Amino acid sequence: DNPALIDTFGRVATDLRVSLTDKCNLRCTYCMPAEGLEWMPSADVLSDDELVFLLRIAVERLGVTDIRLTGGEPLLRQGLEHIVERVAALEPRPRLSMTTNGIGLAKRAKSLADAGLDRINVSLDTVDRALFETITRRDRLSHVLAGMAAAREAGLAPVKVNAVLMRGLNEDQAVPLLRFCLAEGYHLRFIEQMPLDAQHGWNRRDMITAEEILGMLGEEFSLSPYPAARGGAPAERWLVDGGPGDVGVIASVTRPFCGACERTRLTADGAVRSCLFSNDETDLRALVRAGAREEEVADAWRATMWGKLAGHEINEAGFAQPIRPMSAIGG
Ligand code: GTP
Ligand code: 5AD
Ligand code: SF4
Repeated sequence: DNPALIDTFGRVATDLRVSLTDKCNLRCTYCMPAEGLEWMPSADVLSDDELVFLLRIAVERLGVTDIRLTGGEPLLRQGLEHIVERVAALEPRPRLSMTTNGIGLAKRAKSLADAGLDRINVSLDTVDRALFETITRRDRLSHVLAGMAAAREAGLAPVKVNAVLMRGLNEDQAVPLLRFCLAEGYHLRFIEQMPLDAQHGWNRRDMITAEEILGMLGEEFSLSPYPAARGGAPAERWLVDGGPGDVGVIASVTRPFCGACERTRLTADGAVRSCLFSNDETDLRALVRAGAREEEVADAWRATMWGKLAGHEINEAGFAQPIRPMSAIGG
């Protein structure tokens, strides 16, 4: 018997992404409708104790070495600092990161770093205030920028920036975003938009591809291949103008990296998923609430991962979006 989270293709999942809430305080048009979504009932959401119980199993029994907190918006989770503290106390200590929209981070970056958070990724699709409001339906650009600066001050390094470019919306933002991030010392990655929005409005024509992004950047900057191995990381990186600044592209659709995937996911309501795109979930919350032993929970988790598909099927005929939207799976 193998204790790790392996699948039939020989991949080993050591990177756990945990959604702490499905709620969000932005309404990005490519994610959810203006009125928001029907949020999970709070009784369905794992309590802190249930969550830490599961994360302990992941670290102690299943070989998880990296934990990323996501949402919805993880800063909206009550008592986030206490969760961070408890996760950072697990042994062996996992590397601990968070993906956030940055709102409220200005006030909390220091306390999160003190609690044990190592790194942070912030979503930012434009540095233009009016366009930010158009995309997110909220006028909060200055809050996000202040949050990023606070994260840098607090030593949550490197601060990474995730940008999704969309045709006719912010495709002209590639160069300004990179200029801004180079000047501020943030690590920018452009992400191809995937079919994960709650409205099911994604279409291939409006997706800005990695090739297009590199073309736009190549007009202004000189890009050379990054001199380090990529490993299982989703981003392909380039040095900008000889370095030290760099830029990444996460080409999930046109150059899938599923073959090197090291990820397993836990939703806020305690379901394990082997892939963003699989509807095959296992309800660990039910096991936990029924008083299952740790090894039973670990076995259920292993069984889910054993069923992991070779990869997403976005590029195949008959592809259907997963039932849960991105905001309820975790980015
Ligand atoms: P680090 O580089 O270690 O900070 O992690 P990361 O790149 O995974 O960070 P982040 O959580 O910010 O994810 C960046 C983007 O990668 C997300 O916005 C998604 O678009 C994409 N992504 C995350 N997980 C998956 C996945 O399992 N499959 C695919 N295809 N894309 C993913
Ligand atoms: N495709 C790709 N990335 C997405 N994100 C949100 N929705 C999508 C999508 N459909 C990004 C956000 C955030 C991260 C969690 O995922 O911009 O940075
Ligand atoms: Fe919120 Fe992230 Fe969705 Fe934007 S992409 S609405 S920040 S969950």
